[in-house]
Amino acid sequence: MRFVDLIEKKRDRMALTKEEILFWIDHYVKGEVPDYQVSSLLMAIVLNGMNAEETVALTMAMMNSGDVFDLSRIQGIKVDKHSTGGVGDKTSLVLGPMVAAAGAKVAKMSGRGLGHTGGTIDKLESIPGFHVELTEEQFIKQVNEIGLAIIGQSAQLVPADKKLYALRDVTGTVPAIPLIASSIMSKKLAAGSDAILLDVKYGDGAFMQTPQRAIELAKAMISIGNGMGRNTRAIISDMNEPLGNAIGNALEVKEAIDTLHGEGPEDFTALVLEAGAIMLQQAKIADTEEKAKSLLRSTIEDGSAFEKFVAFVKAQGGDADAVRQPEKLASARFVTELVAKEEGYIRSIKAMDLGTLAMELGAGRATKEDVINPAVGLVLNKKVGQKVELNDSLVSIHHDLPLSSKWLDELYASFEITREQAKRQALIYAKL
Ligand code: URA
Repeated sequence: MRFVDLIEKKRDRMALTKEEILFWIDHYVKGEVPDYQVSSLLMAIVLNGMNAEETVALTMAMMNSGDVFDLSRIQGIKVDKHSTGGVGDKTSLVLGPMVAAAGAKVAKMSGRGLGHTGGTIDKLESIPGFHVELTEEQFIKQVNEIGLAIIGQSAQLVPADKKLYALRDVTGTVPAIPLIASSIMSKKLAAGSDAILLDVKYGDGAFMQTPQRAIELAKAMISIGNGMGRNTRAIISDMNEPLGNAIGNALEVKEAIDTLHGEGPEDFTALVLEAGAIMLQQAKIADTEEKAKSLLRSTIEDGSAFEKFVAFVKAQGGDADAVRQPEKLASARFVTELVAKEEGYIRSIKAMDLGTLAMELGAGRATKEDVINPAVGLVLNKKVGQKVELNDSLVSIHHDLPLSSKWLDELYASFEITREQAKRQALIYAKL
């Protein structure tokens, strides 16, 4: 088989066979096909697409390029959740303890943040002592004992995706549904859970700009997951403004703790309840949405979700005192308020810009090598649809270094204030 034949086939809108896709991934991982040929094939896929069989074959080939985890020593149905990435998305920090307190088993591998999106691991590591390096034995034991463990993605998990994603990133070949679906699902399937809930975001801060594109991506991933015998469902949710109020690692942990105490932002709490209700049904702990939601609310009211979070943090070496008294978590040297220069209503908040500006404060990474400052970030004081008076604080800036006027102007420009009250979009567009 010659690689150029695969490129020409895809250029001419033909489908690749399973054998051809296996040949591609196998030889690319071994370093036997040059990047320029793979880039050319990727661009042909961006332009001409892939059918369902090709997408499944690509997912399988990528999944089998590295370790495939066997979680069969964990009793019960293992549920996993994946978000396609957003700004202020601390969902796993609350969802994990809530569904584990309700009896589900969550054995999760998470990633680090890059660019405007944060990563669950970075957020957790802002708790002093918390670490994600568990052996397989420790990981399985912890999930059996407390129902929840979160570890970093193993270097051996889907090595094909690491190589391909790095190439896609610099060749303009990220936005193709078959490529995104196979990239995400190969990692989720290799991580070994029985059931998967996908939170597919759309809007300014997301990969998919419209709900329709997000639905298309979700359907492609559901078909791969269900085809592999894993119960796969999806929520389509809005990322046109940040989720909740906090953006930045320790700030997001504090907001997650507030939410576990029943005092979280309304939008974030609503998303966690919807997602958790699906996961409890997937885990066969509740047979209706109403029962699942009532069970989840009871884990907040009786404190069991928060206690589960404390047990999880302790089990992974974290300082439980800092979780019980969040004022002990890292805090920035300065807090500066950005105030409204006019009155009106918030029409929009550009999530991607806020994510990038928070990254520039030190809350995220521009490159993989950057070191995160856990203390810094942004806390929104106004959300879309809310009234603003002159000099009201729009956002509290938690920072360690002086702020430039250019940075402050850009932050102000992320908020659109209008005379008329804008209608706020529903946070959840669809459940599939
Ligand atoms: N997230 C992934 O893991 N892969 C993609 O291709 C896009 C988002």
